[in-house]
Parts: sequence; C-alpha cells; structure tokens
Amino acid sequence: MKSFEPPRRILMGPGPSDVSPRVLAALARPTIGHLDPAFQGLMEEIKAALARLMNAPSHACLPLPAPGTAGMEAALMNLLEPGDRAVIAVNGQFGERMVDIAGRAGAQVIRVDNAWGEAVDPDKVEVALKGAGAKVLAFVHAETSTGALSDAGALCALAREHGALSVVDCVTSLGGVPVDIDGWGADVVYSGTQKCLSAPPGLSPFAMGLRAREAVSARREKVRNWLLDMNLIMAYWSGEGGRTYHHTAPINALYGLHEALVVLEEEGVAVAHARHRRMHEALAAGLEAAGLRFLASPQHRLPQLNAVLIPDGIDEAAVRARLLGAYSLEIGAGLGPLKGRIWRIGLMGSSATPWHVRLCLTALTDALAAQNYPDLARAALAAAEKRLSD
Ligand SMILES: Cc1ncc(COP(=O)(O)O)c(C=O)c1O
Repeated sequence: MKSFEPPRRILMGPGPSDVSPRVLAALARPTIGHLDPAFQGLMEEIKAALARLMNAPSHACLPLPAPGTAGMEAALMNLLEPGDRAVIAVNGQFGERMVDIAGRAGAQVIRVDNAWGEAVDPDKVEVALKGAGAKVLAFVHAETSTGALSDAGALCALAREHGALSVVDCVTSLGGVPVDIDGWGADVVYSGTQKCLSAPPGLSPFAMGLRAREAVSARREKVRNWLLDMNLIMAYWSGEGGRTYHHTAPINALYGLHEALVVLEEEGVAVAHARHRRMHEALAAGLEAAGLRFLASPQHRLPQLNAVLIPDGIDEAAVRARLLGAYSLEIGAGLGPLKGRIWRIGLMGSSATPWHVRLCLTALTDALAAQNYPDLARAALAAAEKRLSD
C-alpha cells in the first residue's frame, strides 16, 4: 500500500466544488482535543457565523458531523413520529429522498409532485396542506438534480398558515443564493459543506427554530437515531455549563468549515451571490451561443447548478470522459429520469470564476466537435466574454 495521491481535477459538477488552498491548509492544521478550550472557541465562532450566513439570529445553528443527507435525516427523524402526517414537495431526486426518509420515520406522507426541472408550485402545496393536519411541510430550495430554485418564502408561509413546521433543504443554495431563515420564517434548514461553501463534504450546517425545538421536546417517543437526536447534539454544542462528551467532533473538518466561512465573510455574502449570478449569466450566454439549451426555465434557474440538455445524437458519457481525460474537468451526469438527458454543470463557491467559465466552454465545445457537432468554441467564448465584461 502507498500514500494516495489524488489526480488534480477542476470540479464543475453538482458538488463537491473546488476547495481553495486556504481551506485545504486549514484542514491540515494540528488536531487538538474536541473538549480543548481553544476548540470550544472555534465551535462558538462556527455557530455564530452560520447564524449570520443563514440570517437565523434566534435559531440554534450548528454543523452536524455527517454530509447533507444527515441534515435531511435529522430534520425528518426528529420532527416526525409514527402516524404523523408530512406533506413533501417533490420536484427532483432530493425531494424523493425526503419521501423515503419520512416514510422510514413512520410518517404518513402526502406527496406533492411537480415536473422535474420546474419549481415547486405553491398552489399545489396549499391544496395538499388544506385540512391535512400535517405536522411538517418539507421541500428542496435548490434542486441539484434539475437546477430549479423554489420560492422558499412562499412555501414556509403556507406551512405556518396551516400549522405545519417547515423543513427546507438548502444543501445547494447556501452561499450561492440568499438563504433567509428569518425572512422566510423557516423552522428547520440544513445544508452541506461541499457546494457553494467550497469546503470538503462531510458536514451538514443545520438550523432549528424554537417551534421545532419545542416539537422535538414534546415527542411521545425518543428520536430513533442516537447520533442525530437534536436534544443530545444541541446539548453538546450549546456549551452552557461546559461541554460533555456526546461524539468526537470531526475536528479538522471543522477547521475547514471555519476557514470557508471566514473566506465567505471576507468576500461578503451578497458579493458572493452576485458573483454566482454573473458567472452563470456568462456560462449561459456561452452555452446558448453553442446551441445548447437549459432544462429549467429562466425565472427558476439556479446560478450554481446549470442543467443543460444533451443535443440529439451526442454520446454524453464520451463527452464527460473527454472533459476528464483531456482537461481534468469534472461535470455531472443526470440522475433518475434525467440520466442521459442532461449534464449538470456546477458554478459553486471557488468554482464560480471567469476562469472556470472559459475552461468549461472550451472543453465542452471541443468535446462536442469531436462528435461531429459544429465547432462553436469561438462563438461560445465571445458570448461569455461579452457578459463577463458587462
Ligand atoms: C439538494 C440536495 N440535498 C441533499 C443532498 C445530500 O447531500 P450529501 O450528498 O452531502 O449527503 C444533496 C447532495 O447533492 C443535494 O444536492
């Protein structure tokens, strides 16, 4: 066995995104004990930074010690008990995962299906909530499988109106588009570190408001996951009266998240959102000049996840293989019913730069031309350049 040396890659898929040298350096700092006072100071800073980033001054904010799916599982397993009703909006792969987890919690799930590639329709959700006595309304803010953004404010307002707690998946939105827990009135929000925060995967920023915390305290039975029982995790992260052991925090991963949050605050969160939007507009202009089309309609399109329809007659796997082989560039394939129909091109965090836009357009037009598609590299780059200089 030898040391593992990963190949150098440029990550423009659905996540992970490129991790900056600053964050990589932070990950390599010396490991200290998780009950060390210095580490506890870092935990407090992460909690406060997450609360600022998500505009959640009165929520308990902390990173769960596992990837984005842990946030989804924690939200649903803590709030739902056997027999509870949950309305779950599905407009892609991650809504489907919510349905699966809520079912495992023993909940009676009322699905609200929307076409993949479209935003969740608040009118359909309202019909499902009316008279349903649902305890939870869950939906995905930024559907990574389709590149569609839903109106979290409207959906959280509907949940409140109908006496349900809102659970919002912000795995792909956080850092790329505004996440406004206070403005939305959201009860539980979770995210991941490997998308627009540009830290490695493995942590799930999580925010829980008072109504949700009261619902967890009022449960009839214990939460069925021990690691993700929010009563236990919040006691570990609360720091009141000194921390006691619950699990061993992923210490170096938290150094990485802390550095990623410092980087984001230095740039300014609103500036980072504007950068994602500008890079998306440049990439979209280039892709459209190359004759390519998007799955999601412009008004619901995510800047950080570009779902691009594969032109007829193109071997999509061969395109991705050429990008990886010749350019060390990773883009994503479609999931579920969109397998073979779309590519998913990420512009997330450190991967949302003019350099990434130019590389992607160069590589993609080259790979398409290799399959007898018209060579539109010049037109694509010129269109992107025009948007970048606007
Ligand atoms: C919208 C959304 N929710 C949940 C997840 C699950 O996150 P993870 O893969 O970090 O467990 C992902 C991952 O891509 C996602 O995009």
